[in-house]
Amino acid sequence: MTVPQGRDPRYDVLFESVAIGPVVARNRFFQVPQCNGMGYRDPSALAAMRGMKAEGGWAVVATEETEIHPSSEFAPYIEGRIWDDRDIPAHIGVTESIHAHGSLAAIELTHNGSPNLYTRIPPMGPSHRPVHGEIQPIQIRRMNRSDISDLRRWHREAVERSIEAGYDIVYVYAGHDFTTLNHFLSRQHNDRTDEYGGSLENRSRLLREILEETYEVADGRVGVACRINVDELVGDRGINREETVGILEMLGEIPDMWDFMVGGWPEDSATSRFGPEAEREEYIRGLKDLTSKPVVGVGRFTSPDTMVRMIRQGILDFIGAARPSIADPFLPKKIEEGRIEDIRECIGCNICVASDTLMSPIRCTQNPAMGEEWRKGWHPEIIRPKHADAKILVVGGGPAGLEAAMGLGNRGYEVVLIEASRELGGRVARDALLPGLASWIRVLDYRRTQIDRMKNVDYYFESAMTADEILEYGFNHVAIATGATWRRDGVGYAHTYPLDLDPQFEVLTPDDLIASTRPRGKEVVIFDDDHYYVGGVVTELLIKEGYSVTLVTPAADVSTWTHNTMEQHRIQARLLNLGANLITGHSVMTTDTTGVVLSCVYTGKERRFDCDSAVFITSRLPNEGLYLDLLDRRPSWDDAGLSTVTTVGDALNPGTIASAIWDGRRFAEDLGRVDDDLPFPREIARIAP
Ligand SMILES: Cc1cc2nc3c(=O)[nH]c(=O)nc-3n(C[C@H](O)[C@H](O)[C@H](O)COP(=O)(O)O)c2cc1C
Ligand code: SF4
Repeated sequence: MTVPQGRDPRYDVLFESVAIGPVVARNRFFQVPQCNGMGYRDPSALAAMRGMKAEGGWAVVATEETEIHPSSEFAPYIEGRIWDDRDIPAHIGVTESIHAHGSLAAIELTHNGSPNLYTRIPPMGPSHRPVHGEIQPIQIRRMNRSDISDLRRWHREAVERSIEAGYDIVYVYAGHDFTTLNHFLSRQHNDRTDEYGGSLENRSRLLREILEETYEVADGRVGVACRINVDELVGDRGINREETVGILEMLGEIPDMWDFMVGGWPEDSATSRFGPEAEREEYIRGLKDLTSKPVVGVGRFTSPDTMVRMIRQGILDFIGAARPSIADPFLPKKIEEGRIEDIRECIGCNICVASDTLMSPIRCTQNPAMGEEWRKGWHPEIIRPKHADAKILVVGGGPAGLEAAMGLGNRGYEVVLIEASRELGGRVARDALLPGLASWIRVLDYRRTQIDRMKNVDYYFESAMTADEILEYGFNHVAIATGATWRRDGVGYAHTYPLDLDPQFEVLTPDDLIASTRPRGKEVVIFDDDHYYVGGVVTELLIKEGYSVTLVTPAADVSTWTHNTMEQHRIQARLLNLGANLITGHSVMTTDTTGVVLSCVYTGKERRFDCDSAVFITSRLPNEGLYLDLLDRRPSWDDAGLSTVTTVGDALNPGTIASAIWDGRRFAEDLGRVDDDLPFPREIARIAP
């Protein structure tokens, strides 16, 4: 092993090679299975994304869950697919792009009791049950012996196809409380009385058979991995750690590698609001002692010291990562080169998960290039040089402005970033002060570290420039990244018109709270018609400060968009446990001197609710005044040397932090580009003969 200059010897252990059966991983960094909203629909984009992880130093790069047969397809979600030989070419694209950078490619073969909305094949599993994980009016039927034998055959055939496609590791997947193999193991899903139900040995029988057959088909050509749910977190009703110990005692030596995860997907990929780094360590610790085979585990690992501890303490052999590898595909390389401060740490927001749940190509708050490697040719670490010398002003030091300034700085332009307040970060600096969102400050930390090193980027605080002043300074391009302001008039999804409000009654917005204004009285109504995280965290903040809070929302549950980030149930539980009064299915219609009038969104029935103040979280208005002032002065631009003025991020259209960062990158990428009219890159389905 040659040790690159600059690497801290403390981290050497992370760069040791480890054998997985017949194949050898060049280091201990393992990108565990991760879906991405691209799957079988966007094969070239998928291949480019996986290749980027390999380029960034991940020794093993795995696919997402990959359907082995039409009897288990995951519509409407866009996952991997290896139903028959016609799927092989798309997989070759993936394996080749991973191999091009010297990494191993792993495929996660999957059979689920999913509703089969596309193929309409009746779904099956160990027992008669509603389909799992979502509400669909169709049940899973109980598999008979012939179904079990079919499943084993389909799995063997999928293993053969995977090897043909060039994979180095084939996964048997018994995880996340939604795979057929997980359900056979689990007492809460398996009520069979035949040789596949009852005792742990019987419930493990199918897993044993499939592991042995995968090993047999592999025949030393690829490594065999098993991903298993170590504890379903439902006590004795499901698989628990004690049972996993029993399973490992029986099956521990069959596969070439174990991949341990805990709970359902929402528990496994918990957001930082609800779970710290290495949250499930207590469940995994000690399991490695039950097998001689290498072990991978996950925990939103971004700290190299935690990674080293996992190896040194004998908890893991591989550092498994999904989100840290999305936020920073080059994390291993950065540790290898001693560039720890360059790591773009995952903030644990699960916007990446939302791409999958929304069936759209993956995106990431921290890494705007994620999912754009093929479509836009973006690289997470590299950006093309400047098109010409130019002096650029970026107005606003929030996420979009920071990303734009950093990208432009990397391209070599002369950049001035001005910020009206006394600190950089804009909405992320403010959000990070709210309960549970501290790690969101990493959005600022990473970008400030980069910008601080650039001689060609300067930033100034408390510098609110007017349009006339900007014209005096001779900038060639101006990016307006001035963010957005919460509305006070109630306009949102429920109300398309400003509400008729009593001027005597106090209505605050999240901006007021963040600026340390507090409600006049103790009884507060929060009207959340935004439905993402702000309503929940503001409720939490005020309750913790001693206010009595009623959260009113037109939706059926609180923070309803966070179903997409898999946090909704935890937010609702947290607010209930804190004592929040939740009124769902209602809108605030108006205010009077002593409270608000609510209306049921279904019946229209109105009722009064006494309170001292309200906080409206409904929608935002872009801060576009400076932009409009500059447009008004269009005739003076040429004399001032100014060519373009562009609004960026929330100042263009308020959205997520991820969309603001993406837009900042887009501005930096596109400056000076002349090929705007090219067709949008996409892959088009071939018409069947
Ligand atoms: C966007 C995303 C997609 C995922 N898709 C899969 C998947 O297809 N199969 C799987 O076994 N796990 C999947 N997972 C779970 C991860 O493999 C991993 O166990 C989990 O995210 C915890 O690891 P992390 O903290 O490093 O993200 C996914 C996780 C994320 C964030
Ligand atoms: S979207 Fe958020 S959780 Fe997902 S990888 Fe990026 S920063 Fe992490």
